[in-house]
Amino acid sequence: MGTLVAVCKVDDLAPSSARRFDVDGHRIALVRIGDDFYAIGDRCSHADYSLSEGDVWDDECEIECPKHGSTFSLQTGEPQTLPATQPVPVYDVQVEGDEVKVVLP
Ligand code: FES
Repeated sequence: MGTLVAVCKVDDLAPSSARRFDVDGHRIALVRIGDDFYAIGDRCSHADYSLSEGDVWDDECEIECPKHGSTFSLQTGEPQTLPATQPVPVYDVQVEGDEVKVVLP
């Protein structure tokens, strides 16, 4: 279930990049790897830093927090390295035509 909300066009986000979107109170880091899109909570679980400002790791399917370097799985939201120990939310993403949509709970 949930609500499907359009956040941007496919071409708005270059491969291997991330961008923050604030949608209905959800602070979301939308990440593109190749033609795949992932959406996780943008607020690092360690401190209030924006994950979308970090580096995208294509091969690992992770993003690195720009502040202290924890990496988070884009598939599970789980931190892969310290200092973060708690996961961030993961949102389902659907691409319909040229629109990228996320499912809000
Ligand atoms: S704020 Fe992200 S690892 Fe510290």
